[in-house]
Amino acid sequence: MPEASLVVDLERREAGQGDPLIFLHAFPLNSAMWGPQLAALPAGWRGIAPDLRGFGASPDGDQDVSTMELFAQDVVAMMDRLEIERAVFCGLSMGGYIAFELWRSVPERIRALILSDTRAGPDSSDAARARERLARRVEKEGVGIVVETMLPRLISSETRYTLPGVVESVKAMMLETPPATVARALRGMAIRPNSEPLLRTIRVPALVMVGAEDAITGRGQVEFLARSIPGASMETIEDAGHLPQLERPDAFNRVLREFLARLPASVRKS
Ligand code: MLT
Repeated sequence: MPEASLVVDLERREAGQGDPLIFLHAFPLNSAMWGPQLAALPAGWRGIAPDLRGFGASPDGDQDVSTMELFAQDVVAMMDRLEIERAVFCGLSMGGYIAFELWRSVPERIRALILSDTRAGPDSSDAARARERLARRVEKEGVGIVVETMLPRLISSETRYTLPGVVESVKAMMLETPPATVARALRGMAIRPNSEPLLRTIRVPALVMVGAEDAITGRGQVEFLARSIPGASMETIEDAGHLPQLERPDAFNRVLREFLARLPASVRKS
């Protein structure tokens, strides 16, 4: 574990009481993206959605690059502060990259995994270079450029036309993220390790989910997770893009609820 001084105390949203379920948000959003899940938690669960360092209400550190390892260390420190030994984790996209990092470093703290719209492979060298170009533009021009390039690909066409409120809330989350936080996370994602070899070592119940129209992650990547994690189940959320938990919260919550209900008592109480 890192020196205490390197860890950032994460702010968080919470709802419910019971077994801990930790929600890890996507880039460049914050814990508000889990609002519909925190509002509809099944009985017996305590939902905890941290703002990762620099995002939402959490302070950033003074690092140049926000690696997935740093994000994961902050989450473990938060668990320690809350005296949570083990939790179910639900990570979406970058939140999924962080969940893989948690599995790599502290698998004993994980009871079960829900991985949505995420992938285990690293960036290609082209993708990493594109992230660096975007990081430099964000540092010069602000986060507007990320909204311009990313927002149209984040949500399904159905959401764009029928749920303008969702589009606006995603845009607001993006715009409130400081440029330095965005640039550091882009650089961190560009150097994230390959988590594909980890998949077959995952020995906790796992659910993978994907929005049917996810233009960022791609269904093939998520199918790969489902094939590679022993015993994992996979669900597709229709009419949703990269953010099914906001675009189709009822469908997402139903799948989440059913997965949680299927967890053996030994997993919940171990
Ligand atoms: C996210 O939604 O967290 C990002 O799309 C992840 C990424 O850029 O790889």
